[in-house]
Amino acid sequence: MFHQTSPSRGEGSPRVECFYDKPSGSCQYIVVDEATKKGALIDVVADFDTSAARLRHDSAQEILDFAKSEGIEIEWVLDTHPHADHMMASAWLKEKSGAPNAIGDKVRDIARLWRDLYHMPDAFDPDRDFDRLFADGESFALGDLEVQVILSPGHTLGSITYVIGDAAFVHDTFMAVDVGTSRADFPGGSSSELYDSLTRLLALPDETRLFHGHDYPPVGDRKDPAFFATVAEQKADNPHVGAGRSREEYCRIRDERDATLDLPDRMLHALQVNLRGGRLPEPEADGKSYFKIPANRF
Ligand SMILES: [Fe+2]
Repeated sequence: MFHQTSPSRGEGSPRVECFYDKPSGSCQYIVVDEATKKGALIDVVADFDTSAARLRHDSAQEILDFAKSEGIEIEWVLDTHPHADHMMASAWLKEKSGAPNAIGDKVRDIARLWRDLYHMPDAFDPDRDFDRLFADGESFALGDLEVQVILSPGHTLGSITYVIGDAAFVHDTFMAVDVGTSRADFPGGSSSELYDSLTRLLALPDETRLFHGHDYPPVGDRKDPAFFATVAEQKADNPHVGAGRSREEYCRIRDERDATLDLPDRMLHALQVNLRGGRLPEPEADGKSYFKIPANRF
């Protein structure tokens, strides 16, 4: 797995270990408090073979093995939102590490939305499947560091950003600085809300490292995945919101681009797992799990 380290820049600044999941183009992180060697896993992916509907955790195991080899003690299993393009490893990581898992509290609203879309009134209960549901403005400890939660909707209606010192995990808001921003056309998404979230993140200090959720290299001459850019870099160079673009201009660029994109091929499988914290659907009488996929709905 492609891996890169963004070192601590001094006291109060976490080290960030970045891992790239090629099949889903996902950026996954271990954020580490250097003083205590306590770490949080952020947006770690479970492997899914769509044609066989097979869920595995080989790459998540690789990340846990790395943490162990570095003497990092996992204190949190965090996700920024219920992902549409990959399965989250949250429940599995919680079991393996013993650390609590968490996501944003508006995932209750996302669960309601998808309960209707799947016509499965009792399928999802985030209070059951996550140990903590963070509200906007809430904070919690990672070792000696404080993690601040910022609600940042637009890509989904309940996405959150985790801010730890000079690192912010912004998921699907910004993409790499030479790419732009994330799509806002999934159920519950809104380009106008995403604009507000991007603006709020750009108000963080200029030197803040914004770690994004996806990259799909090659991009131009760049062959390797990129994991972050600073606020100053995104402000100056982001092709969608850089150089002070207006809301109207941004929404036009975003909506026009989204109209050309196919839905992720595993979205309808992924949300059924991710809204259960990364667990497969409840086994039926034969002990096996089955997916329920709405036809002609999208
Ligand atoms: Fe996403």
